[in-house]
Amino acid sequence: MAGVAEDAMKPEPAGSEAVLQRELAYYEDLYSTYGPGLFAQPAVVLFREYLARRILRATGVGHASRVLSIGCGIGDTELLLGPHVAHVTGVDLSPAAIAEARRAASARSITNVQFVAGSWQSAALGEQPFDAVVAIFFLHHLPDQDLAAFPIQLQRLLRPGGMFYALDPSARRLSGFLGKLLVPKLMEKYQTEDERQLLPRSTAGPFRAAGFETSTHWFDFASTPLAGLFPSWGAGYRLARVLDEALTRVPLLREWSSNFELIALQPEVK
Ligand SMILES: C[S@@+](CC[C@H](N)C(=O)[O-])C[C@H]1O[C@@H](n2cnc3c(N)ncnc32)[C@H](O)[C@@H]1O
Repeated sequence: MAGVAEDAMKPEPAGSEAVLQRELAYYEDLYSTYGPGLFAQPAVVLFREYLARRILRATGVGHASRVLSIGCGIGDTELLLGPHVAHVTGVDLSPAAIAEARRAASARSITNVQFVAGSWQSAALGEQPFDAVVAIFFLHHLPDQDLAAFPIQLQRLLRPGGMFYALDPSARRLSGFLGKLLVPKLMEKYQTEDERQLLPRSTAGPFRAAGFETSTHWFDFASTPLAGLFPSWGAGYRLARVLDEALTRVPLLREWSSNFELIALQPEVK
């Protein structure tokens, strides 16, 4: 009873802290149950390989570059970037994710990718700024006030001339509308209570206001949602990816794409 009374007296965590606790609970469960098995399926692996190629191209990182990944999950994208750069640091809130990422790095004998457990704002990420920072399906998990403050905090993590790359779901995605209609339970299972989709222009706004040069690009239409729906169907992913190359270029139609990239360049100091 004393425990119950003490709990009742504890103040509820407010705002960002409450979101952080809910995120942690969701991802600890995901990464210690079906997450790693799902992410090892052929269509999801093909998505990661395609994404890694796109990140390398967009950021221009190479063999001398140091990369930070915020909200790295189980590190499947980061482990694909490792062989192409000098070093990758991945940080994630979930200790279960970090344990799985370290296990995968060791199983694949990848030694230049390091994983750190904790919130990116407080984790020990070293003093030296990075050549590139990536955030895959991460920004849309930040509460509004944290998202607005993110570009300012990013400035100290990136070197002058460094690149930021983010991938996030679009609020206008046709796949989200159809998903809610046809497979609402699956949509709920794959989404946390606090996340919401974003729009390219309004997401880029605070980055531009903080002095970054930004561009946004449609990433996909059907391929990534298909990988979530039919993760074992590698051939389906490949076909959808080919279609996406066309669909994401069609004026008007492309506004209903699924995910968008935000690329932000921190200017060189004059
Ligand atoms: C949608 S998942 C994306 C994971 C991974 N990037 C991927 O592509 O699979 C969002 C991730 O952000 C992490 N996360 C949420 N808030 C965080 C924070 N403040 N600091 C570090 N990681 C955080 C979660 O634990 C989760 O792994």
